[in-house]
Amino acid sequence: MAKVRITETVLRDGHQSLIATRMTTEEMLPILEVMDQVGYHAVEMWGGATFDACLRFLNEDPWERLRTIRKRMPNTKLQMLLRGQNLLGYRHYADDMVEEFVKKTISNGIDIIRVFDALNDPRNLQKAVETVKKEGGHAQAAMSYTRSPIHTNEVFVNIAKEFAEMGADSICIKDMAGLLDPYNTAALVKDLKKAVNVPIELHTHATSGLGNLSYMKGCEAGADIIDTAISPFGEGTSQPSTEPLVAAFAGTEYDTGLNMELLNKMADYFRPIREKYIESGLMSPKLMGVDINTLRYQVPGGMLSNLVSQLKQQNAMNKFEEVLKEVPRVREDLGYPPLVTPTSQIVGTQAVLNVVMGERYKMVPQEVKMLVKGQYGKTTVPIKEEIIRKIIGDEEQITCRPADLLPAELDAIRQEVAEWVEQDEDVLTRAMFPKPSIDFFRYRNAQRNLIDHGLLDEENMVYPV
Ligand code: CO
Repeated sequence: MAKVRITETVLRDGHQSLIATRMTTEEMLPILEVMDQVGYHAVEMWGGATFDACLRFLNEDPWERLRTIRKRMPNTKLQMLLRGQNLLGYRHYADDMVEEFVKKTISNGIDIIRVFDALNDPRNLQKAVETVKKEGGHAQAAMSYTRSPIHTNEVFVNIAKEFAEMGADSICIKDMAGLLDPYNTAALVKDLKKAVNVPIELHTHATSGLGNLSYMKGCEAGADIIDTAISPFGEGTSQPSTEPLVAAFAGTEYDTGLNMELLNKMADYFRPIREKYIESGLMSPKLMGVDINTLRYQVPGGMLSNLVSQLKQQNAMNKFEEVLKEVPRVREDLGYPPLVTPTSQIVGTQAVLNVVMGERYKMVPQEVKMLVKGQYGKTTVPIKEEIIRKIIGDEEQITCRPADLLPAELDAIRQEVAEWVEQDEDVLTRAMFPKPSIDFFRYRNAQRNLIDHGLLDEENMVYPV
């Protein structure tokens, strides 16, 4: 039986894509026990943005959220998204940090870690995958999906083979920009199933309106797991909705086995939360419609809005079309990186500079130099010699695994943050989010003081309203 399994994303990508990751733990709590009974393959609930938003906007300890959800969902696997050697931050961390983070993540309750790298350089996933396995977790390796003249199915099959050899327990096609279409999905899944022996999971966004169709053709071609979001937090820039796919497959050989009655209960629960965020203006109708331009521009939605804000700052909105044309050219120059954090920002900023300065590569940000030097890893195709010289002059490219150059750093951060630490996990929080973490620790201390003086009870401290 080619039963299809479902990973629910409402607690991570669903609200990240539609309400800037602002759902609070308190809003999640009342429905967790229902979710736990639905029969999901996994519930995705943690990642860089959820972690960041907890600290920066919600005054919540992300670790506490993880433990709380773990406690309320004993029957369901919890999944997180990890940016390879970047962990949840924006730079490469030393191996001792990666080991410590994965260890703590699993001991706090995560079952499945989806590891990816913006350049699909297997060496950037290696340490994380190795540690997940050592700690008894499920290591899923995700390929950042993109389209370009060089990204044939063969390229992805080769990446998948390397991931499988590295020990990945499953492989995900991570289509963060919503570029998958039904027939390409089917063809790619078919090729992957022939090449590797581990389950294949599909992750897409409904932005172009093709998400459901891609999932359907993908499952017919043998995909094992798909990522969906319960309907109030599905569609638009989020994942395709859970219920229609469950209904579509019901009674067929792909039957997901999920309990529709409980899904309805979940939808009833999340609908007023969605309404609340529409009223507050955080959920914009713009994110909810179909935007077929996604396929034309091939850039993720978040990158488009970044380009607009950079151009507005420069008073150069009239150059928008020109910048959109420059993006694929810069991407070609830089070895066709998939556009996802941090490469989307790197390529976007260079494209804006090339257009605004009126001369290509007249001004080159540090991150572009680092990318060309190989400090983010190796690009899918080598960067042309002429571009290398233009950007880094006579400097040498590095060819080793970037993290091999990083000395251990955990102890130094541990000492630096000692005065704030209440739990070992705080050291990791501080390492990945230097400023928001200290602000949060300060807030937490103040709350503790109030509790000590009998002015606040423990309940209110963890989930302030
Ligand atoms: Co996504």
